[in-house]
Amino acid sequence: MEIDGVEFAKVASVGAGVIGYSYALKFAMAGLEVWAQNRTEESSELARQRVATSLDSLVKNGVYTADEAGEIAARIHYTTSIAEAVTGAQFIQESSAEHYEVKWELVKAIEAASEPDAIIASSTSGLLVTEIAKNAEHPERFCGGHPYNPPHLIPLVEITKGEKTSERTVARAKAFYTAIGMEPVVLQKEALGFICNRLQMALYREVANLVLSGVCTIEDADKAVTFGPGIRWGIMGPSLVFELGGGKGGVSGLMNHLNDSINLWLEDMADWKSFPPEFAQVAQDGVNDELAARPAEKGNTPEGLAEYRDHMLIELLKLHKKL
Ligand SMILES: NC(=O)c1ccc[n+]([C@@H]2O[C@H](COP(=O)([O-])OP(=O)(O)OC[C@H]3O[C@@H](n4cnc5c(N)ncnc54)[C@H](O)[C@@H]3O)[C@@H](O)[C@H]2O)c1
Repeated sequence: MEIDGVEFAKVASVGAGVIGYSYALKFAMAGLEVWAQNRTEESSELARQRVATSLDSLVKNGVYTADEAGEIAARIHYTTSIAEAVTGAQFIQESSAEHYEVKWELVKAIEAASEPDAIIASSTSGLLVTEIAKNAEHPERFCGGHPYNPPHLIPLVEITKGEKTSERTVARAKAFYTAIGMEPVVLQKEALGFICNRLQMALYREVANLVLSGVCTIEDADKAVTFGPGIRWGIMGPSLVFELGGGKGGVSGLMNHLNDSINLWLEDMADWKSFPPEFAQVAQDGVNDELAARPAEKGNTPEGLAEYRDHMLIELLKLHKKL
């Protein structure tokens, strides 16, 4: 795979835990040779098992043959040495624990063994890239590459910049993630929670408001999203949905036309700065009732629900030509 005139022959996943194993698998699914690093042999074994389980699910869902899955697994090399993982790698994804102290230590170890031109992307969910790379020799080649779990299935990756991240790094990271079949979005400035978590929480705040004020149950709020806007959002984003909803006037026509009534809704909606504490139990009780009422084939236990989600996700990704 060639990015910006450089052949990407080797990539590394440093910290192959929940996210790091899945990134390693995604890289291998894209045909790359990957070095997955863990601190101990036991963690490497766990990563190997997670890779095997995920590949089994992809085989079961008709994405790969058993032979293809074997070839993908063979492209992932496990090591407990950061130096071995990153030496000669063109792209390094760091997915270690979410603490600055841990990331600083890793930055040092990664820089000591990697090429100065290698891109280093952190999976961090909330730490600042500027702070992660503050002691780096080459802070310009650091960026954030925030995935959604599990990155071997979910295409979105949010690229974030630190103060010293170069535009070249952002462009190369974007080109790399695109080349492996992911869908990168670039945050032009730092924003807590990035894009998606903010959107998820904005919606969930209103779910809490509707349920706590007695308008609907947790189950009906879930149903309303799943079989209403959610089913469209799985195809295109809210602005494109509104572009169609606006008819000839498009999204601007829709916003102008509905503006007065939208303002009335907005007036009535929650604008809380924190969730009411009682909502946690209300949500749990609602989910327990919802699960008890679900047919087994759609998952009526957390495990069954996860299996159903993965199966449906794979089918949707096939429609999107992402698998
Ligand atoms: N879990 C998620 O849903 C999710 C989603 C998006 C981003 N992230 C981010 O991904 C990163 C990893 O999260 P995770 O859920 O995979 O965690 P995890 O605990 O499953 O894995 C962390 C990995 O880091 C290694 N590690 C821990 N401490 C270390 C140290 N002191 N030195 C070297 N390596 C160390 C562990 O051995 C393990 O391989 C975090 O930055 C997290 O914010 C997580």
